[in-house]
This record gives sequence, structure tokens and C-alpha cells, in this order.
Amino acid sequence: MTITRDRLIVAMDLSTLESVKCTLDNIGDAVSYYKIGMESFYSLGEAALSLMAANRKKVFLDLKLHDIPNTVSRSVKALCRYAPAMTTLHAAGGPAMLRAAVEAAAEASAQLDQERPKLLGITVLTSIDETEWAAVGHTRSIRDSVLRLADMCRQSGMDGVVASPQEAAAIRQCCGPDFLIVTPGIRPLYGDKGDQSRTATPAEALRNGADFLVVGRPILAAADPRIAAIEIVKEMEG
Ligand code: C5P
Repeated sequence: MTITRDRLIVAMDLSTLESVKCTLDNIGDAVSYYKIGMESFYSLGEAALSLMAANRKKVFLDLKLHDIPNTVSRSVKALCRYAPAMTTLHAAGGPAMLRAAVEAAAEASAQLDQERPKLLGITVLTSIDETEWAAVGHTRSIRDSVLRLADMCRQSGMDGVVASPQEAAAIRQCCGPDFLIVTPGIRPLYGDKGDQSRTATPAEALRNGADFLVVGRPILAAADPRIAAIEIVKEMEG
């Protein structure tokens, strides 16, 4: 059973190496898992990942791949050399793209003699609300769409999904106990929602069945990120 602290992933949404170093030093041993997403990867590239490895932190590499199966499969192989613990693809890329990614990750990891990264499908971004969803042209509700995408990910051999904590309980029911559910859109009791729509508190997210919580601004923008992270872990435990 993973200890509560290891179920918190801090989103390192920063664009300079100094700020990443500073945040890592400040948070110290309070957190062991970090998300390297588009902002830090596109700004810093391998340097961000090397810094995580040097500090023995686990990495959730969140680049949200979405392209034709051949391109995604080659990209997944390239990303495997960074040995992330988890990485993401847009579920909307469809079953053929997802299956190609699963095969590519297994092949590359076997060649590198390392553990295969867990592959997660992005369902519907937590910033999207029903009005935005309809504006894109979708006619099903967000909840129905998330469940359909999650089930498609499961059937395509993916390890889990990224979804809102508000949908976690229904996903758990539909996809079973071993399917990973990672939830952003976490706002502690004192938190500001910012651009997120489908949010929940840390305790609610875990109660709904989330395995990991991704938290960015409530920690990064706090006066003391270490204290904010410790408070969130306390909320998770509560
Ligand atoms: O700052 P905040 O806590 O809102 O950050 C949430 C993080 O989770 C961001 O890095 C964002 O990219 C990510 N994310 C999300 N919704 C998804 C997938 C990832 O907010 N569906």
C-alpha cells in the first residue's frame, strides 16, 4: 500500500532551471513525485528530467501525446529513455493510437531493460465545463464522455486515465480496482480555483477513488511550497 505522501504529485509548471531547483530544495523530502509537463519540458528539456533523477524523484512525464499511431509509437519509444514512472496520451487519439503506444512502450522498455512506464489516457481536461465541451461539438455530457474514454483506454491496454476527481468514483466502478486514476483539478480547502472547473478537495478526490493527485499552483504559488505540500498531505490523510 502506497503511503499517502507518495500519492501526491507536484506539477513542476515552471520554466527556469533555477526555479525548479529552488522548489525541489524547498519541498525536500515532503514530496517524492513530480510532474514534468509541457511548460518545464519545452523550456528545459532533458535538464528538468536529469534534475529529478539526481534528486531521486519519481517522474510523471505529462506531454499529452496526440498524433497518428506511427508518430505516437516512435515518440513513446523516444520518451522511454527518460524512464518516467507514468506518461500521458490523449484518449481522443483513439484505440489504434493507444494500442500502438502500449506496444511501443513495452518494446522500448524491454530493450532498455527497465520497467515500462505506466501509460495514462487524458479523458476530458479538468478546465473544461459543459459549455466549452458543447462548443467543441460534443453532444454527450462530460461524465458520459469520460466514462466512454476510460473504458476505451482500458480495452486498449492502457494502465489508467487522467480525469477530474468528480468522475473518479464512476471510473473506478466501470474500470475496476487495478486501473490507475490520476486526478488534477485539486483545490485544498483554502484554494483558489484559477482556470480549473471540475475540482475537488484532496480528501474528496481520494474518497472518490483517485490513486494519485496532481497539484500545481496551490503548492507552487504558496508563500512556502513545503508547508503547502505538507498541509495537502494532511488533508489527504483527513
Ligand atoms: O495548477 P494546477 O493544480 O491547476 O495544475 C494542474 C496540473 O494538472 C497542470 O500541470 C495541468 O497541466 C495538469 N492537468 C490538468 N487537467 C488534465 C490533465 C493535466 O489540469 N486533464
